Amino acid sequence: MVASSLAPQKPIATLVSRILRTSSLSSPVATSLRDRPSRRWLAPLALASATLLAGCGGQRDIKVIKLAHGLDSQHPVHKGVVFMGQRLAEKSGGTLRVDVYPSGQLGSERECIELVQVGGLAMTKVSASVLEGFAAEFKVFGLPYLFRDDAHQQAVLNGPIGREILASPQGKFVRGLCYYEAGSRSFYTKNRPIHTPDDLKGLKIRVQESPMAFALIRAFGASATPISFGELYTALQQGVVDGAENNPPSFHLARHYEVCRFYSLNEHTTVPDVVIVSTHFWSSLTPQQQQWLQEAADESAVYQRTLWKAATEEALAIVEKAGVEIIRPDRAIFAARVAPLHDEARKDPVIGPLNQRIADVRP
Ligand code: GCU
Repeated sequence: MVASSLAPQKPIATLVSRILRTSSLSSPVATSLRDRPSRRWLAPLALASATLLAGCGGQRDIKVIKLAHGLDSQHPVHKGVVFMGQRLAEKSGGTLRVDVYPSGQLGSERECIELVQVGGLAMTKVSASVLEGFAAEFKVFGLPYLFRDDAHQQAVLNGPIGREILASPQGKFVRGLCYYEAGSRSFYTKNRPIHTPDDLKGLKIRVQESPMAFALIRAFGASATPISFGELYTALQQGVVDGAENNPPSFHLARHYEVCRFYSLNEHTTVPDVVIVSTHFWSSLTPQQQQWLQEAADESAVYQRTLWKAATEEALAIVEKAGVEIIRPDRAIFAARVAPLHDEARKDPVIGPLNQRIADVRP
């Protein structure tokens, strides 16, 4: 729909060598690979997962699955993937283990997807917005005020449309396993409270690496600056941008509230998170292991969602106590301002029909 000037990405070789260099990685897999520089060229595939031998006497293989994401270890997303690992270990009798690397340790979301594509990382959890660059179907989630309510969103994600979108990046060596709850995104700003869309005029707002997010911010009259999540705190602090937008747990746990004193709950988008697996890694699993992993992912999605409401309420209470002014504006004014994006979407051959089908879903 809209062209964007997204930041240049680091080459895969740089990302893989970052994994090899990362001294904070406690995983035995990373350590053993660092110790064997002559195997460096095998690193990408070997890093995604590894088979360890465990037990004395009756030996058994343990397959270790690396999963990286960009959020804090207190975030419901992190708790969700840890739960997935527990369920997988239980189902597989301890033969499949998930090692989780939070807080962007292995790179930005886009970088993690690229590693997943080449098999350098087995799994990651990213925002659907960043998947737009890999499968155009994900763009539909970037449309403002897409879902009428929670029940509508759940019916879409858990129904045929959600499954179809999840399967869409398979040709790009990425398999979607499940959606995670990521609430609704709202504006936070350093110096200017946002009561109406006019207040956004002229502000520099950080966006995800997503053409839809770019288009949305521009439709609100602000200027969009793509910055990865891990670099946003500093960008806000140094005034590279005047504000950003996100859900309450991420606003809180990334500590952006220390810099942005106004949070306006206009809830312009409800973009889900997605747990993805490398198709290289997936096809190395037996059908039984694939089934366990899919089941563990699905169960973790249900669990992660149960954490969301409390995490949102807690985040809002904490940031308010810390002095952030919480604004509850009239969402209808914001929706009206960006309604033309839906008209534009109608002309798009991929998201036009999807948008219509989503609107037709009646839970
Ligand atoms: C949400 C989402 C993250 C994403 C972040 C962002 O918090 O859950 O996956 O990184 O938005 O704005 O980049």
